[in-house]
Amino acid sequence: MRIGCVREIKNNEFRVGMTPDNVAGYVKCGHTVLIEKGAGAGSGFADSEYAAAGAVLCDTAAEVWKSCEMMIKVKEPLEEEFPLFHEGLILYTYLHLAADPVETKALLDAKVNSVAYETLIERDGSIPLLAPMSQIAGRLSIQEGAKYLEKRFGGEGILLAGVPGTPKANVVILGGGTVGANACKIAVGMGANVTILDISLQRLEYLDNMFGSVIQTLYSNDTNIENAVKNADLVIGSVLVPGGSTPKIFKKKYLKEMKPGAVFVDVAVDQGGCGESTRVTTHDDPIFVEDGVVHYCVGNMPGAVPRTSTIALTNATLKYGLQIADRGLEQACRDNHVIYSGVNTYNGHLTHEKVAEAYGKCAYTDPKTLF
Ligand SMILES: NC(=O)c1ccc[n+]([C@@H]2O[C@H](COP(=O)([O-])OP(=O)(O)OC[C@H]3O[C@@H](n4cnc5c(N)ncnc54)[C@H](O)[C@@H]3O)[C@@H](O)[C@H]2O)c1
Repeated sequence: MRIGCVREIKNNEFRVGMTPDNVAGYVKCGHTVLIEKGAGAGSGFADSEYAAAGAVLCDTAAEVWKSCEMMIKVKEPLEEEFPLFHEGLILYTYLHLAADPVETKALLDAKVNSVAYETLIERDGSIPLLAPMSQIAGRLSIQEGAKYLEKRFGGEGILLAGVPGTPKANVVILGGGTVGANACKIAVGMGANVTILDISLQRLEYLDNMFGSVIQTLYSNDTNIENAVKNADLVIGSVLVPGGSTPKIFKKKYLKEMKPGAVFVDVAVDQGGCGESTRVTTHDDPIFVEDGVVHYCVGNMPGAVPRTSTIALTNATLKYGLQIADRGLEQACRDNHVIYSGVNTYNGHLTHEKVAEAYGKCAYTDPKTLF
């Protein structure tokens, strides 16, 4: 198959859909890979590395779009890319179509067959192409929190680990899933006192077994949250209710009871956030202060570390991408239910039930009836 990868043109997006190692993986299986010159620069990958891996370098994105059968990206195409779509093109990327009617119409009109990373679901309900981004956001949340605890950023001026003879910082993590567990790992590694709250006792048991007596696990309810955050230096919001809205468990009234200069990193902000005081911020202007508490609420945290994010994402996309390239989309779907679950548009039809819900009852076509 002829596979393409172009530079991401979304504002502040420095990740890229394929690394040179990734290219080598496809080339080894007999595929041709077309890369737009400069596509990997934002993630620190030079054209020469892609060429050495066997890619064909193209001067323009248009050349790549025109001649590839499968396009591997990171983010959804933008409007200036829509005219480059062609019938039968397989688009493999993050899409979030339920919230994007313009993109959805463009893909349907052009009969692009799209496979959205965020909708590939394993039988146990896990989302293999979202997990790496949650791991990164979780680990980064402590790094960012530690930075904003510094006095010059409005923080209380405390070092997470302290030093002998001084108190360690108290880190409170709301939600112990992928983000929470990764935040916990880094906070423990940096020597902080860590308390983690979740409503899943099974999850708390896992964390307790994993970290032992180094951390405190607590059932997540209003009393336990309020008591924990009163003494917190850093609070991480990492709650998720799949398919539902994020509960606002970090209440505004807690801010007044907290230490001035404490930091709240609401990682869950991309799903509305778990703080009543949360509002979305950006990498350009990442924080605001409310009632003396520094809030960091960046919706695309992995964008701060594009090289790590690109490598982590492409490690995860390769397995399914190769199956699509080797067998064609239809056969790959028949062979692997995970890929089947990710098909959002096919030959002008909306083929993802959950996405179609956003567009009314008649919008959905069962992909089984199409191939
Ligand atoms: N800002 C970013 O850049 C970024 C990046 C990745 C993920 N995220 C977001 O981070 C959030 C967490 O993602 P995840 O992958 O860890 O999800 P996850 O499903 O692995 O974990 C969520 C956890 O929240 C727990 N939970 C649910 N309700 C709770 C409550 N009332 N109190 C305490 N815990 C509760 C669940 O039991 C679960 O363990 C999501 O909103 C996700 O979209 C944001």
